[in-house]
Amino acid sequence: MSERFTPEDVEIWRRDGVRPLVGFFTPDEVAAVRADFVTVFGRQAGAQAGLEKKLEGQLGRFNAAQFKDFDAIPFDCSPALNLIGVHPDLIAFARAALKTDQVHLYQCQAWAKFTGDADYDQPFHCDFGNHTLTVPSEADHLNSVTILCYFTDVSDAHGAMNYVTRPDSARVAGPEGTLDFTPEHQATLQDGLKAMARSSAAPAGSIVPYGIDIYHRGTNMTAPGGVRYAVMVCFKAAGNDAVGYHAWPFHQTKPWRNIFDHATPEQLACFGVQPPGHPFWTEETLRRAQVRYPGWDLSPYRAALAGGTPAP
Ligand SMILES: [Fe+2]
Repeated sequence: MSERFTPEDVEIWRRDGVRPLVGFFTPDEVAAVRADFVTVFGRQAGAQAGLEKKLEGQLGRFNAAQFKDFDAIPFDCSPALNLIGVHPDLIAFARAALKTDQVHLYQCQAWAKFTGDADYDQPFHCDFGNHTLTVPSEADHLNSVTILCYFTDVSDAHGAMNYVTRPDSARVAGPEGTLDFTPEHQATLQDGLKAMARSSAAPAGSIVPYGIDIYHRGTNMTAPGGVRYAVMVCFKAAGNDAVGYHAWPFHQTKPWRNIFDHATPEQLACFGVQPPGHPFWTEETLRRAQVRYPGWDLSPYRAALAGGTPAP
């Protein structure tokens, strides 16, 4: 167990479907990730005024501009941003939440928002629609945990995600209510959820773990010059083929050396890389892997092969 959260935090996440944790990352970790956001996205400030194009009577709607600066790791930057999704304490939270030691990182995206770039207001929705082809399980560990990580101070004028806890939303609609976009249904759903909404506004370094069955919505950026740097991190139990998003090898043109050259075997295992001692590792696969990633320190894998260490 990590010192950055308690068993009670995990139980509250299990009960409510959401458990914000303020100040999860250290100031040094935040500063390093923030510097990488500047490297990757090239901007540190938005416009003086927010952009609003809302239709009359709507809480918000999805539009492509909201996702303009939303991209998957790895990036051409330091290890800070590339490895923040597999920070040992995030892995620890995911293991506790999902009741397993074997967790898989199935989404990790950096998301920069700037005042004036978009109307970031969204309707309340659940994320299971693009994380599974069916519906959320009633057992959280059979679903997944999404962890929204803030690396700038996020006030309500900086696009703080709004959410409704599972016990509250159950009085309005189950998660399947997110599938019906008819205006009549949406009007009732959005009004009902809005009345119980909570803000995730929190200082840089805070995280918001939530489930794929939890109603939430992005809100607009209105702070003059406002910027919001966030990372979306999603874990599932390894082997849970019902949940997915990225197929990491599909992104093979990205600079994976930035991850392989700096990650521990435990972190790489979150991407599906076999751990030291796994039967996959032979003299030949070690040789091939070193050709693909010349800077990868394969010594733990070599040592396990030489010593006959069984896979954990
Ligand atoms: Fe969402």
